[in-house]
Amino acid sequence: MSRRAQFLEVLGIPTEWVPRERADAQAEAAPEVAVAQAAMPVAEAPVAEVAAVVAAPAAEPAMPVPAPVAPPVSRAPAAPALVPAGPEPGSAQADREAAIASMEWPALDAAVAGCTACGLCQHRTNTVFGVGDRQAEWMLVGEAPGENEDLQGEPFVGQAGKLLDNMLGALGLARGRNVFIANVLKCRPPGNRNPEPEEVAQCEPFLRRQIALVKPSVIVVLGRFAAQSLLRSTTPIGKLRGTVHSYEGIPVVVTYHPAYLLRTLTDKARAWEDLCLAREVHDRAGAGA
Ligand code: URA
Repeated sequence: MSRRAQFLEVLGIPTEWVPRERADAQAEAAPEVAVAQAAMPVAEAPVAEVAAVVAAPAAEPAMPVPAPVAPPVSRAPAAPALVPAGPEPGSAQADREAAIASMEWPALDAAVAGCTACGLCQHRTNTVFGVGDRQAEWMLVGEAPGENEDLQGEPFVGQAGKLLDNMLGALGLARGRNVFIANVLKCRPPGNRNPEPEEVAQCEPFLRRQIALVKPSVIVVLGRFAAQSLLRSTTPIGKLRGTVHSYEGIPVVVTYHPAYLLRTLTDKARAWEDLCLAREVHDRAGAGA
């Protein structure tokens, strides 16, 4: 069985199929692109050229189309692009960011736990700092805590988290073992609404410091919101994935949010391609290349 087939099995879609006519038509037109365009919500739809870059090798059969299932979704990726501008030099916000940028773990932990910089603090049960190995080579960055994460104070503990754990397992990784998982926002937006630019602006310095302290070999960004925030981009996720970006000199690979993958099973194969790219980047970094 190919690695990709193994991954699909791990993710729970080993037995899907498409009628031969449809598979042939897709293969002739543009492998996978037709499936993606038909099946994806506009929000995360990849553009054709990027989908083509990460399309399955020609030798592989057309991607199976899973039967539609409606799994529980703990948190949908956000809609608007959020690209907060940096603070005015000399402003209170610039001072705050500079202070955060010099914190070690205990101070950073405490600063997040006591943060009242935006209105999200009024609704939270717990802040969600992040979890894992603080010297990890892998760092995963999501969007914001959902309901379960807010209750437990840990990122990705809902349905999306289970899928994320499976994705880590497929890479030979496990939560807390050489992986640190964090979110752009440390507090849950009420009702899982989309984060506001001001909330991102206030919270992002914490993530930036976490990344600086962990110093991972590779960052895997989960979903459009986190990708656009981290990379300060408004480019759609379909264009951001498939290439290696850089954040403060650290390679960044973008993939779909696990909550999105729970609803869009056809893109799990693309997520696998992304994780293979991240693995390649990680291994290259380890080899000192
Ligand atoms: N979605 C996220 O982006 N982060 C979490 O921690 C949970 C769901």
